Amino acid sequence: MPTTITDAAALDHTAAERVTAIIEDAVRARGAAMVSLTGGHTPQHLYELLADPRQPWRARILWERVHLLWGDERHVPPDHPDSNYRMAHDALVAKVPIPPEHVHRMRGELEAEEAARAYELDLADTFRAAGRTDQTFDLMLLGLGDDAHIASIFPGSPVLHERTRRVAAPWVPHLEAYRITLTPPALVDARRIVMLVEGPKKAEAVAAAIEGPPDVLRWPAQLLRAAGDRVEWLIDRLAAQGLRGQHA
Ligand code: 6PG
Repeated sequence: MPTTITDAAALDHTAAERVTAIIEDAVRARGAAMVSLTGGHTPQHLYELLADPRQPWRARILWERVHLLWGDERHVPPDHPDSNYRMAHDALVAKVPIPPEHVHRMRGELEAEEAARAYELDLADTFRAAGRTDQTFDLMLLGLGDDAHIASIFPGSPVLHERTRRVAAPWVPHLEAYRITLTPPALVDARRIVMLVEGPKKAEAVAAAIEGPPDVLRWPAQLLRAAGDRVEWLIDRLAAQGLRGQHA
């Protein structure tokens, strides 16, 4: 799994370039870019950079050819402060000329299982309407939890064993909340997966995910090992400080 280690200030610019290049390649090759966004705090500045007209990336992206989808969502309405959709809307979606019908949020305001079912239908419809015969994302952007969760697949989650459904609605005990999340089949078969990880609190999870002994139940990000070189880790030096092998 390729790993790029930068200082924190450069991380978002590196990520903006990588995301833009992947989108450009997808549009050239397939006429559209099916992009799954991550939530949390780490990607917010990246989204702002992509939307900033003073930066090179906004103009390079053919927004009318991009479909934005999400890797996971909290079980809240879209205007809730915790909503991943709301964060991406405010930082990116509201600032770029993407057709509204190309923005496919998980409907966190619904009962969780109903939201998961609805998103599976939306995924199928969206990929079909884009002329795809599969549901392979062109870009899967993911963050990493301190516990090495990806999307909303947390350590010990039953979703770790899901091999058929592409969207699930697990109860997350330590959060005492439902989440809506893509499942391993949906996450891992993406053409390109970009992990965006920053800060010292992630160092243990980064080392376990990339170099640790196999234990995907404890370290869900180890799911990404199945994707091989389709995964690239963009990590700042503090998040990388636990790496010892050739990735360091
Ligand atoms: C979410 C995210 C989640 C996130 C990690 C890291 O809904 O919170 O999708 O998977 O990427 O928790 O979050 P931070 O970027 O806030 O550290």
